[in-house]
Amino acid sequence: MIQTVAWITSLIFMVLIGVVFGWVALNSTKKEEYQPIVKKWYKVRKLYGIALVTFMVLVSIYTLRELPYNEPVYSAGVEPIVVDVEALQFGWNISQTEFEVGDSVEFRVTTADVTHGFGIYDPEMLLLAQTQAMPEYTNSVYITFDEAGSYEILCLEYCGLGHHVMTATLEVK
Ligand code: CUA
Repeated sequence: MIQTVAWITSLIFMVLIGVVFGWVALNSTKKEEYQPIVKKWYKVRKLYGIALVTFMVLVSIYTLRELPYNEPVYSAGVEPIVVDVEALQFGWNISQTEFEVGDSVEFRVTTADVTHGFGIYDPEMLLLAQTQAMPEYTNSVYITFDEAGSYEILCLEYCGLGHHVMTATLEVK
């Protein structure tokens, strides 16, 4: 579908460029006073510029107004369990690792040393959520456990020789 759209759009623009090229080639021998043309097209350029800026501002407002930054993924009114996570070479200090099905959790992630990546994997090892563990910052990541099982925590940022052993397990019953 997207490929068809891209293909047709490309074709339209190719034809358009061809037409403009042909028009310029056909008119290239014509002689005209330059100043009035410049004046006219400066005006067009100004209008085009204003229209473009207006359009982009409107599009930006429309598309940015509901950014999910720092928004919990669970419904409003749900009080999440807050879990503190501290990453360090090469392991995790997690204040709570056992949960019940249906628990909404906010992990507040930071690091004691270098940057790490906090990734939560479901029992089938699909990545569910992740955030960066950054020195002197606390990043929140929100998740609701709706399936029982063992959830793996893997480090998602290369952080040294022991990066690959930086794992932990969350149990959901
Ligand atoms: Cu911690 Cu990679």
